[in-house]
Amino acid sequence: MHQIILEYLSNMEKVISGIRPTGNLHLGNYFGAVKSFVKMQEEYNCMFFIADWHSLTTHPTPENIRTSVRTILAEYLACGIDPQKAPIYVQSDVKQVLELYLYLNMNAYLGELERVTSFKEKARKQPDNVNAGLLTYPSLMAADILVHKADKVPVGKDQEQNMEMARLFARRFNRIYDVEYFKEPESFHFNAKAVKVPGLDGSGKMGKSEGNAIYLCDDEATIKKKVMRAVTDAGPTMLNQEKPEPIENLFTLMQLVSTPDTYDYFNDQYNNMAIRYGDMKKQLAADINAFCAPIRERILEYKSNEELLAKVAREGAEAAAASAEKTIREVREIIGFRN
Ligand code: ADP
Ligand code: TRP
Repeated sequence: MHQIILEYLSNMEKVISGIRPTGNLHLGNYFGAVKSFVKMQEEYNCMFFIADWHSLTTHPTPENIRTSVRTILAEYLACGIDPQKAPIYVQSDVKQVLELYLYLNMNAYLGELERVTSFKEKARKQPDNVNAGLLTYPSLMAADILVHKADKVPVGKDQEQNMEMARLFARRFNRIYDVEYFKEPESFHFNAKAVKVPGLDGSGKMGKSEGNAIYLCDDEATIKKKVMRAVTDAGPTMLNQEKPEPIENLFTLMQLVSTPDTYDYFNDQYNNMAIRYGDMKKQLAADINAFCAPIRERILEYKSNEELLAKVAREGAEAAAASAEKTIREVREIIGFRN
């Protein structure tokens, strides 16, 4: 790359984020994470990756992994990540991450890892498979981030505790080796508050494992079916009544995909006790479809272009390995190993 471009990039703040390849991307992934990726690539030195090592905690088959990695790659591109601006790589192509993972694990303690909420939840959900990878999930995530010395990490609210751990491991490394080497990475979201996209089943967040997700690749009929089935109630019984969670959730989704006028129209209807949920859902389904349709078309295009996907992943891996290698050499030096 040209010297001036290199200097320009090195002065920009670094941004890293990744998503596990455990299925298709849904509206929660888009509004909670990928939308920020697309915006940030214009202003920061970004790299985005597919966290396939992290997905091994649930023992996917080789075919599962290959398909899911290809899917997320195509979906990242379809959402507007431009690999010329923000390289996209597959985590398992960048082996330097593993070396840092090992070093961080030597200073990560059982007690603190066991206290991580997502570990406790997953251990409860899969009691027969509480493996060491699940326990050390936060140190692998910290390695992903610290290996590029990232400044900012765009993630949804549910990743806050993992981000705390990444900062803790960075500080601890600096203290143990008496260096000011790692920066503490910040979580980042464009909105003042992290977005939590709700599901359509009345409570909680939209998620792959919750079985309540609308996927970016869903077709019109599927979207309509999912939205029309959303939980509602008998309607407000007082003017300007506070909305119960399932209704609030419909409005939250509407705020994300519909125009402000549409949102205001149904909000006024609710406040005046004139709301017809059937009409609101029809409108919401149409607006979700209008939002997803162009992305869906691009997903199909990219998925059929194996050559392009392979090229993006190869170039992404080169860029990521170069950045990670520099850190690993410095870390080896700090720890007392030969390079
Ligand atoms: P899932 O919960 O569906 O398995 P992941 O855990 O792989 O999704 O999340 C990938 C990214 O998408 C993370 O940055 C996460 O914070 C974000 N994300 C996932 N679900 C939501 C949601 N419902 N609302 C906001 N952000 C979300
Ligand atoms: N833990 C993240 C999730 O479940 C995925 C992830 C792995 C990640 N490594 C990361 C996100 C590094 C940001 C930075 O969504």
